Amino acid sequence: MARRVLQRSRPSTGGKRLRPLLVYLCAPEAGRTGDGVLLAGAAVELIHSATLVHDDVLDRAQLRRGRPTVWARDGELVATATGDYLFARAFTILAETGDMAAVSELAECTLGLARGEAMQVEQARQPGTTLEAYLERCGLKTGLLFATAAALGGRLGGLGEEALSHLRAYGHALGLAFQIADDVLDCAGSIESTGKPLGTDLLDGTTTYPLLVAASLDPVVARAVELGPERDHVLEVLARVADTGAIARSRVLAHAYARQANEALDELEDDLDTQPLRAVALGVVDREV
Ligand code: IPE
Ligand code: IPE
Ligand code: MG
Ligand code: MG
Repeated sequence: MARRVLQRSRPSTGGKRLRPLLVYLCAPEAGRTGDGVLLAGAAVELIHSATLVHDDVLDRAQLRRGRPTVWARDGELVATATGDYLFARAFTILAETGDMAAVSELAECTLGLARGEAMQVEQARQPGTTLEAYLERCGLKTGLLFATAAALGGRLGGLGEEALSHLRAYGHALGLAFQIADDVLDCAGSIESTGKPLGTDLLDGTTTYPLLVAASLDPVVARAVELGPERDHVLEVLARVADTGAIARSRVLAHAYARQANEALDELEDDLDTQPLRAVALGVVDREV
């Protein structure tokens, strides 16, 4: 089911809504009917939307889900205020659950997201960025919200602390697999399916794993990462990235994290139907959207 949801979603539909899906699937069936899981699903999607609106300012991105970004259409101040509003709205919604531990977990997560985005700015245009630094940044900017979505679903669905820690481990590894797949799509995807232009990371100097691998093997790519390619040369540089084998190596790494995510579920068989979550992990690495 989860895999079909991912495959069928199109950018114009308002996004894949993957994080609320995680909230839902991480709650045991008996705990899914309450308002708590619904409110947590809405809250994590609003946090996600807020980070995208702010991220598009930092990345100077023109297009999101096939449409102009808030930044491109209305400028930086409106985009900043819109993102801030979405963050605040997420917390008012989650507070309705009355579960302070849940609110506090989402607050910690939001701090981590901001640190991850700041780290991305620090690591920009640095082809010598290590794999460790890249993974730390992706863990914060993407893994943490996946981990939090999973834990909130489990918590509001009635699971205990030990199960929640396994769900966090699943979400963290899944988030890394997801971000690596996103970084691959930025180098080798299609705008029709992702709703985002190719080569945004290369243009704004974001040091993603495929670009880092390719930069270590091809000095032309390293220079493009460091100085920014000419707009007309983006496709040429992306072809060189693929020629180094960096796309294939990135896919291998994404698969390794998807496997790691599923291993974290092995301890949860008595608490939850883990099959849909395992399908999500496979779906996020082999996706085109
Ligand atoms: C995009 O997330 C940001 C990343 C973490 C790579 P999604 O790909 O889940 O965005 P939407 O919500 O489906 O548009
Ligand atoms: C994810 O990184 C952004 C956040 C987690 C906020 P990207 O910069 O790769 O996301 P896209 O490609 O713009 O969707
Ligand atoms: Mg971006
Ligand atoms: Mg991206």
